[in-house]
Parts: sequence; structure tokens; C-alpha cells
Amino acid sequence: MSPRLSLLSLLLHIAILPSLQLNPVDLAALADIKSTLTDIPGSDFFSSWDFTVPDPCFSFTGVTCTLSRVSTLTLGTGLSDTPGLAGSLSPSIANLTSLTQLILFPGLVTGPIPPQLGRLTNLRVISLTNNRLTGTIPTSFRSLKRLHTLDLSFNQLIGQIPPSLTTLPELKVLILADNSLSGELPVVSTQLLHLDTKKNKLTGPLRSLPLTLRYVALAENSLTGPLNGLESHSELVYLDLSMNQFNGPIPPQLFNPSLSSMFLQRNNLSGGLPPKFVGPTSSKTYGGGSVVDLSHNYLTGELSTVLAGVESLFLNNNLLVGVVPEEYIESLFNGATKTLYLQHNYLSEFPSKPGLVLPDTVSLCLTYNCMVPSVRSTYCPASAGGQISRPSSQCSRFKNQNLID
Ligand SMILES: *[C@@H]1O[C@H](CO)[C@@H](O)[C@H](O)[C@H]1NC(C)=O
Ligand SMILES: *[C@@H]1O[C@H](CO)[C@@H](O)[C@H](O)[C@H]1NC(C)=O
Repeated sequence: MSPRLSLLSLLLHIAILPSLQLNPVDLAALADIKSTLTDIPGSDFFSSWDFTVPDPCFSFTGVTCTLSRVSTLTLGTGLSDTPGLAGSLSPSIANLTSLTQLILFPGLVTGPIPPQLGRLTNLRVISLTNNRLTGTIPTSFRSLKRLHTLDLSFNQLIGQIPPSLTTLPELKVLILADNSLSGELPVVSTQLLHLDTKKNKLTGPLRSLPLTLRYVALAENSLTGPLNGLESHSELVYLDLSMNQFNGPIPPQLFNPSLSSMFLQRNNLSGGLPPKFVGPTSSKTYGGGSVVDLSHNYLTGELSTVLAGVESLFLNNNLLVGVVPEEYIESLFNGATKTLYLQHNYLSEFPSKPGLVLPDTVSLCLTYNCMVPSVRSTYCPASAGGQISRPSSQCSRFKNQNLID
């Protein structure tokens, strides 16, 4: 054997040997992490955490190591039939300095997110969803320059979204849904792909958002103001801004078949629907699985053929007028449209041939418009009420553009 080769094999030996024995700092941290958490009866996560065995890296559930250091920590089994863990998160997690991934599966873990986690600058993924974590999102997370995914959804977090969080250079997925976060949405200056802050207490206007975004869910907050800026978001496939107080018109560019799920219902949106597609759209009709919900706004004008092929289309409870376009009716009969809610508008005609029978799979609701429809509504929601048509006084008043009272 040449001297060079034997040196190499010696180096290899040294590099491999320590990986058989977990670093004592990490070993102490694991012991402390276990001491602050417990299996809820019915959960069986910590049974493999036996500190008398030679190496946790090979025997502890949820622990993987790289070169004698813990590199991923997954707390809980994640099995849907187990109740998960209770207790709290130990600040000693921050002693696992090689950690790249920290996952806590759904359970009843309470207390704060340890701010010390900001020391773990190798972290790529933090997911602590569906527990009872309290307090604020640590501002120390601004040091997590390599963080790719942060999911803190379904907890009891309060306070603001730290502005430093939405500038982390590698952050792609930010999920903070179902907490009690307040204040304004910070400016997002990363190449984010997925932003979900629904069901919080956020206020203020829609901030400029990165054009890389594909998934945006800001529903069920108290956001206000116009939908400015969204017209440039050509990558969007999912947009949920429902149940806020947005006002003004819907940018016509949002009517784009590649944005196949659009939820804008229960806002204060006004203005009309665009008569045709604007801007470059990849395909010119909505496809299977598409959903557009614009219900419970103040939209005016006539229905647009742009929306004719949407599979589930909700335009109810607006101020829409005129004749339902033939294209809508064709889509119902050829099966492209499965749900069409038009109730509680001021529509004047549904031009169907007498005797035509809708497919069984169709839900059509036409009640409380300015017409006696030529086909029967099928599967109207209870909220549509039992009255087939609007009182004619409302319809004539509407024709005189006198909507104020
Ligand atoms: C974690 O590190 C801190 C600071 O270095 C130290 O004080 C603490 O004892 C460590 N925790 C454990 C459980 O070893
Ligand atoms: C929504 O619009 C309606 C009608 O224009 C108005 O009465 C109401 O105050 C608005 N609400 C908000 C929160 O802006």
C-alpha cells in the first residue's frame, strides 16, 4: 500500500469513527428535550428513546444524524390515529447546532417557541403545526438565513409577523394560518412561492407581494383597501382573499384560467366582470377542478362569458343584471360546469329551451332574481331562501339605477 493511500484510509477511518458515537452536547440536548415533553396516552413516540443504548442515531425514533451530530429532529409519529405529544419545547433544541430540519407533529404542546432556535443557522425546515404554542414568533428567526419552509399554523401565536421574517433570502414557504397574529402584513421581499396567513387578525392594506408566488391565502383577516398589484401576478394558481374588507374592482388580469382557484367572496368588491380575457393566458378556458367564488360582494354589470367554463362558479349575492349567457347554459349541459350559483342578483333571463333536463350532477341556483326561471333550481343552499323571484318593485327600482336604499 502506498503511503498516500494508507494516509487516506486513516483519514477515512477518523471521519467515520465518530459518527458511531453521538456528540455529547447533542446527547444532553436530546435528554433535555425528552424531559419537557410527554406522550399523550395513546401515543407511543418516546418509547424508543432509551439513553442506555450505545447510539441514539440508530435507535431513537425521529432522530437522524450526520457525522455524529443530530441533523433532523421529528417529534411525534405523525400518525393520524395517535394523539401526539404534550409539554413544551426545550430551549436545548438550540444546542443541536447541525440541525437542518425540526418537525413537531400535531399534539398539545404548549408554551413559547424557544427564541434560542434562531441560533440554528443550518435550519432549512421548521414545522410546528397544530399544537398550542403561545407567545410571539421569535424575532431571532431573522438569523435563519437558510430557512426554506416555516410552518407555524394552527397554534395560538400572537403579535406581529416580524418584518425580518419575510426578507429571509431562501424562504419559499411561509404558513402562519390559524393563529391570532395581528398588525399589518409585512412587505415580502423574498422569492416566496407559498404564503398562507389565513384566519388571523391582520389589518391594513395588501402589500406588494413577490411575483414568484403561486399560492396566496390571506382569507379571514380584516385586510382593507384595493386589490392593487395583483394584476402582475401571472404565476398564481391559488388565490384566497375571502372574508376580508377589500374594496374596489377586481383586476381583470385575475380572470385567468391558470389561476384555477380564486376565492374573493365576502369582501366589499365592486365594479364589473371583464367581457373577455386580458393579457397572455396559457389556455383560454377554465378546466376541470376550477373554482371561482366572487359571492357576497357588490359586483355590477352583466355576467361575462370569460367565466362560462368554470367547474364551480359562485356569483350569488351581488348586483349583477342582464341575461345569463348561452355559454353558461351550454357548460351546464355538457358537464363542464357542475355548480352555478347566481341567486340574489338582479338577473332578468335564463334562456333555456323548455323541456331540457339538467344533468343530475349539476347544482344550479337561480332564486331571488328579476325573473321566473325557465328551469328549476337544483340544490340551492338554505341561505338562498324560498322566494323564487325578487319583488318586482326592487327590479324596477334597479332599472332606474336607484340602488341606494
Ligand atoms: C445547552 O447549551 C447551553 C449553552 O451552551 C448550556 O447552558 C445548556 O446546559 C445546554 N443544555 C443541555 C441540556 O446540555
Ligand atoms: C362595504 O361596502 C358597503 C356598501 O358600499 C358599506 O356600507 C360598508 O361600510 C363597507 N364596509 C367596509 C368595512 O368598508
